[in-house]
Amino acid sequence: MIDPRTSVIYKRLKEIKKIFIIASSKGGVGKTLISILLSMGFRDLGFKTGLLDIDFTNPSCHILFNIDPSIKPTEEKGLIPPTVNGVRFMTISYFIGESGVALRGQDVDNIFREILAITRWNDTEYLIIDTPPGLGDELLDLATLIPWGEVILVTLPNRLSLTSIKRMIGIFKDQIKLIGVIENMWRQERGIRDIIINMDLKYLGYIPYVDRLDDLIEKFGLEGVYKKFFSEYLSGIISSIL
Ligand SMILES: Nc1ncnc2c1ncn2[C@@H]1O[C@H](COP(=O)(O)OP(=O)(O)OP(=O)(O)O)[C@@H](O)[C@H]1O
Ligand SMILES: [Mg+2]
Repeated sequence: MIDPRTSVIYKRLKEIKKIFIIASSKGGVGKTLISILLSMGFRDLGFKTGLLDIDFTNPSCHILFNIDPSIKPTEEKGLIPPTVNGVRFMTISYFIGESGVALRGQDVDNIFREILAITRWNDTEYLIIDTPPGLGDELLDLATLIPWGEVILVTLPNRLSLTSIKRMIGIFKDQIKLIGVIENMWRQERGIRDIIINMDLKYLGYIPYVDRLDDLIEKFGLEGVYKKFFSEYLSGIISSIL
């Protein structure tokens, strides 16, 4: 059956210059942090930037963004995402709060289409999508609904994470538009730049490991930590994907 939302989604998203999908098959490698940092990096370059969290079972961008629970999207022929930290930010957590939801594959697919169909990004120039870990339905849905979306894989500088990147590429290479890899939690002595390049992938850059990051964010705020530890690494990454 043809889903009428497919054409609505296309209409909603086609004006955006580029859509970046941040993914990894392994959990906890920093997709959410990197999605947030990228959105702040694009914002700092003066671009109208959007961030969409499609981790429906465990949404977490809003936690890092520290959003006020009273903030909700505005209704106007669809939903207009609130601007948080200078970024247009859409998440299911506006609707479910902190209570999790157990979702079957079909439900995930449905919520995903619904969110894409109702959200009005208006004149957003760059959109970053934070995805849940794994080779799940969300990524296949994305590949189907937004085939022009550019996938960025996140990996840690270790063998487990690299192995899972290889597996993911093996499974998805013909279905997604993979543009490169970001190394997260980089430490001087363990960089994996050459390994990535030898895998015939584009190495987009690295984000350094910052000890006790969560404590620092709590103490100095996301913006303070972003400026002190991360912003200098983003310009190189962003210029390679613009
Ligand atoms: N560069 C870094 N330096 C230090 N800690 C980091 C770094 N990147 C991420 N972390 C920490 O690692 C944890 C996981 O990060 P994050 O939630 O961004 O990963 P994720 O890939 O989105 O996880 P999930 O797969 O569960 O969605 C968090 O506690 C985060 O603060
Ligand atoms: Mg995450």
